[in-house]
Amino acid sequence: MRLIRVDWIVDDMELARDIPSATLGAAPLLRRGVSLTPSLAARLLALGVRAVWIEDDMGDGIVPNQPLPDHVRNATERAVHSCMEAARSVASDLADLPPRALAQIQQAAEALTEALASCPEAALAFDDLATADSYTYSHSVRVATLGLLIGQRIDRIDGWIDYRGERRFDRTVERMTQLAMGLMIHDIGKLAIPDSILNKPGKLTPEEWELIKTHPTAGVSMLTSPRISPLTRCIVRDHHERWDGQGYPAGRAGTDIHQFARIAAVAYVYESITADRPYQPATAPHVGVRVIREGAGTQFDEQVVAHFLRIAMPYPVGYTITLPDGSSGAVVGVDPESPEYPVIRHRDADGALVERAIHVVDGVVMAPGAGGPTGQPPGEPLAAHDARVGAASPAGAAGAVSMVRADAQRAHPRPSHVREPVAIRSAVGSPGSAWLPAA
Ligand SMILES: [Fe+2]
Repeated sequence: MRLIRVDWIVDDMELARDIPSATLGAAPLLRRGVSLTPSLAARLLALGVRAVWIEDDMGDGIVPNQPLPDHVRNATERAVHSCMEAARSVASDLADLPPRALAQIQQAAEALTEALASCPEAALAFDDLATADSYTYSHSVRVATLGLLIGQRIDRIDGWIDYRGERRFDRTVERMTQLAMGLMIHDIGKLAIPDSILNKPGKLTPEEWELIKTHPTAGVSMLTSPRISPLTRCIVRDHHERWDGQGYPAGRAGTDIHQFARIAAVAYVYESITADRPYQPATAPHVGVRVIREGAGTQFDEQVVAHFLRIAMPYPVGYTITLPDGSSGAVVGVDPESPEYPVIRHRDADGALVERAIHVVDGVVMAPGAGGPTGQPPGEPLAAHDARVGAASPAGAAGAVSMVRADAQRAHPRPSHVREPVAIRSAVGSPGSAWLPAA
């Protein structure tokens, strides 16, 4: 399957995944297998759905990595929704979260941690782009998913430092559950801020901005129960702090900010950029990746960013890229070590499907023909894949990425310098622009 913009839908395209309803627990807007039409596409756009997964020969065999099974994601969204509704009733007094809501969110954090613990290290799929759901709740779950993937990777590779300064690799489940909980409710303090300010489409006044900046401390005020871990509280309090001390509410810097809050800062900013917001349509994954990468050492902890860059891909598997000649290609493989060299499947001049690596920089597909160490012209179909692509293509399978990558290196050596971009019309639109049309 592959992800395409809704405005690219033509007659008889087959929907590959359900399109969830904006109402929690309601039946999907459309079920997988439905034959799409331009008039259906217009209705989806009106409902705020910007992208859909379709099944066709170009996407055949592509299985995007989905870190979270649908049932866990849905259950987590319901738990966050329910917890937030309970918190809403006490938000005006900044009173403690009711015990029942606390227990519910704790349970959801455990389920999320357990589900992601078995998730293979993999580039994120952006299946949520096809969702027309409520911003607030899916935002929390997506922040939690990304943050947990980063946290798990750090925990596994670097471990954690205890109060004696010793590096440890134990208590993983306990620590990750505390991280999950903090990520899910990191913005609970926003319940104390009027919706008219939170969702204001225009620029905030200085007074409104000062009010927004109180939401981390307001959140902590609602989490004084001894059942809540100090680590969870740190995330709520410090997720807007910056590595260079220029954040809020306290201006903490460096390691004075708990690592979990530094992880939350990366997950939160990335998710905010790449998700639909009330005041801003979704931006392409590569823009989000660039913002995080460029913020390393100033806004973000470099160590956290390094792990993030091995998880979130600028051109994820299943993503559709429009090539300079106007044709489309679906990303079938990406190597986390060289994410700017995705392997795509597209039609050649004879209309046959072929796979080859391309070089994309900031959403700009580089012109082929650079030549490389092997002297082989890049941009040519891969030797191992230049045969017509059959139904048994391994594209997208987790184990296929390194194999595809090896071929990609052969056919498309990394250029030693960045070449002039050719006319770019990737699926993400022009570099830096929103890739999905406004509803
Ligand atoms: Fe926040």
